[in-house]
Amino acid sequence: MDQDPKREYHEPVMTREIVELLEPIDRGVLVDATYGGGGHSGALRSAYPDLQIIGIDRDMDVEAGGDIRLVRRRFSELGDVLDEFGIERIDGALFDLGVSGHQFDTPSRGFSYRHPGPLDMRMGPDASFSASDIVNQWPFERLRDVIQRYGEERFAGRIARAIVEQRPIENTIDLAEVVRSAVPAAARRTGGHPAKRTFQAIRMAVNDELAEIERGLEAALDRMAEGGRCVVVSYHSLEDRIVKRSFADRARGCVCPPEFPECRCGRVPAFRLVTRKALRPTADEVERNPRARSARLRCIERIAA
Ligand SMILES: C[S@@+](CC[C@H](N)C(=O)[O-])C[C@H]1O[C@@H](n2cnc3c(N)ncnc32)[C@H](O)[C@@H]1O
Repeated sequence: MDQDPKREYHEPVMTREIVELLEPIDRGVLVDATYGGGGHSGALRSAYPDLQIIGIDRDMDVEAGGDIRLVRRRFSELGDVLDEFGIERIDGALFDLGVSGHQFDTPSRGFSYRHPGPLDMRMGPDASFSASDIVNQWPFERLRDVIQRYGEERFAGRIARAIVEQRPIENTIDLAEVVRSAVPAAARRTGGHPAKRTFQAIRMAVNDELAEIERGLEAALDRMAEGGRCVVVSYHSLEDRIVKRSFADRARGCVCPPEFPECRCGRVPAFRLVTRKALRPTADEVERNPRARSARLRCIERIAA
């Protein structure tokens, strides 16, 4: 059995790639914006002993290791955290999005459709409502829209209708069963557990995840020093789309309309894409750690002030 407490909390994904991409900032200040079990921070600390690491996580269960400064906050507050530490510029930022293995595997957190637990799904106490509020109180249209948008679920209408009809729904297993029975029998046999997308959607709404990513990236890139790098690992297309767009915006030079014969804006890009296409985990890693399967990694570097 694996005795490393960091790995028991969460098996980190694409660690080798992250360590390599952050080598140019080996003596700088890095914000690990999704500290979790500290697996990535620990690997970076071992590879680069002079790297200063500030960890952020909104989950109260996280615990700091060694000399890493850890704050229990949302990463959208990254700018305020740096102000409080008196740090003007950072050399690196790491975002490893989504939930940790610890959160997913702790039944009382309510993230999993496989374990019986309360309808909670808050990553931290800062979330203003829980899964139960969405499931038991939101009107049909709002519920359907969330399941459709964040879960990309084609049966969102049927699922939302079934949830509203079966209220009150007390726990994760009951919710998973309501979703399963709302999906047509033929579709239940394809694409994993039928409740997976609905659970993902509710979790994303509870934690306001997409807005958090936009704000967190903006804060990190605004404070990045020249030569600094930001690495993001995302786990589904909605997350990756935001990362890709945010990086592309920062790496864009001229913004003149295409009909202009020559550039008049004179804008030079402040960033360059280190990864043009997202990197994927190796087949070996996916075999060892199935949670790595959907990972996509992107990296950007600041090249001008
Ligand atoms: C995939 S885990 C990170 C695991 C970590 N890289 C490791 O090696 O153990 C994601 C972590 O990010 C945290 N998180 C997600 N969204 C956050 C946010 N907006 N602000 C702060 N922490 C967040 C979660 O609480 C979770 O612990």
